[in-house]
Amino acid sequence: MTMNRSMQPVAILFFLFVFLTITSVHFSFCNANHDVVMCMESERQALSAFKQGLVDPSNRLYSWEVEDDCCKWEGVVCNNLTGHVLELHLQNPNTSFDFDYELYGYWFKRSALRGEINPSLLNLKHLKYLDLSLNDFGGIPIPSFIESLASLRCLNLSEAGFAGSIPHQLGNLSSLRFLSLKSLNFDFGFDFSSMYVENLQWLLGLSHLEHLDLSYVNLTKAPNWL
Ligand SMILES: *[C@@H]1O[C@H](CO)[C@@H](O)[C@H](O)[C@H]1NC(C)=O
Ligand SMILES: *[C@@H]1O[C@H](CO)[C@@H](O)[C@H](O)[C@H]1NC(C)=O
Ligand SMILES: *[C@@H]1O[C@H](CO)[C@@H](O)[C@H](O)[C@H]1NC(C)=O
Ligand SMILES: *[C@@H]1O[C@H](CO)[C@@H](O)[C@H](O)[C@H]1NC(C)=O
Ligand SMILES: *[C@@H]1O[C@H](CO)[C@@H](O)[C@H](O)[C@H]1NC(C)=O
Repeated sequence: MTMNRSMQPVAILFFLFVFLTITSVHFSFCNANHDVVMCMESERQALSAFKQGLVDPSNRLYSWEVEDDCCKWEGVVCNNLTGHVLELHLQNPNTSFDFDYELYGYWFKRSALRGEINPSLLNLKHLKYLDLSLNDFGGIPIPSFIESLASLRCLNLSEAGFAGSIPHQLGNLSSLRFLSLKSLNFDFGFDFSSMYVENLQWLLGLSHLEHLDLSYVNLTKAPNWL
């Protein structure tokens, strides 16, 4: 049976729709080959909020202000297929130790990040690697909310100026392979006490741990840790 005359425009519209759909699918595949994957807006905002909490005297996170794509920011590594932020390499780059404390202290402090750790970090759901080592967080405690960064495989808070009790919540980071909580060496005369643990029971939660550094952490309260 032939098509009713009043149906014809509908049929034409339908074929046009199918044609447009096919071509747009085709174009988006083509684009995927050429476009570099950009960072997620929500993750960009999370990183910006995190930066707001930091003090950055040498402005080493300058690119975080001027560049749109957070995958191109200093220290940020994204998954190149999904655009999710995977790694944050924010260790103090300037650790040149001249055996001259005045000079060492000056350059070290100048490029150290300070301030606070904004919980906006928790919006980086795919974060596997977080390195804040050798910064100068001035004796604040390690924030216990870090336990919610469930994808973390490497956490490096070595000599970053954290102090006080190490939160047992770290034991929830069950994917961790590398954990470095090396505390500051007080021979350098820092004016806050070192990190300490109430117990080490929480380490039992870290069943994939391959490397653990608790140098200079006060373990006096955890007598049965072996
Ligand atoms: C994407 O990442 C993988 C694994 O990290 C790497 O081997 C590959 O070379 C990267 N591709 C591009 C285009 O950067
Ligand atoms: C690192 O320290 C050296 C001196 O030891 C200095 O010349 C250099 O500018 C510093 N770099 C940064 C990025 O602060
Ligand atoms: C942690 O950071 C310190 C200082 O930057 C570095 O020497 C150490 O190798 C790092 N540890 C891991 C497990 O990445
Ligand atoms: C962390 O572990 C405790 C038990 O040690 C558990 O009660 C809590 O629900 C866990 N929190 C998360 C966010 O997994
Ligand atoms: C370690 O902690 C204990 C008990 O809290 C304290 O008495 C001791 O002075 C601390 N040791 C160091 C080296 O800070």
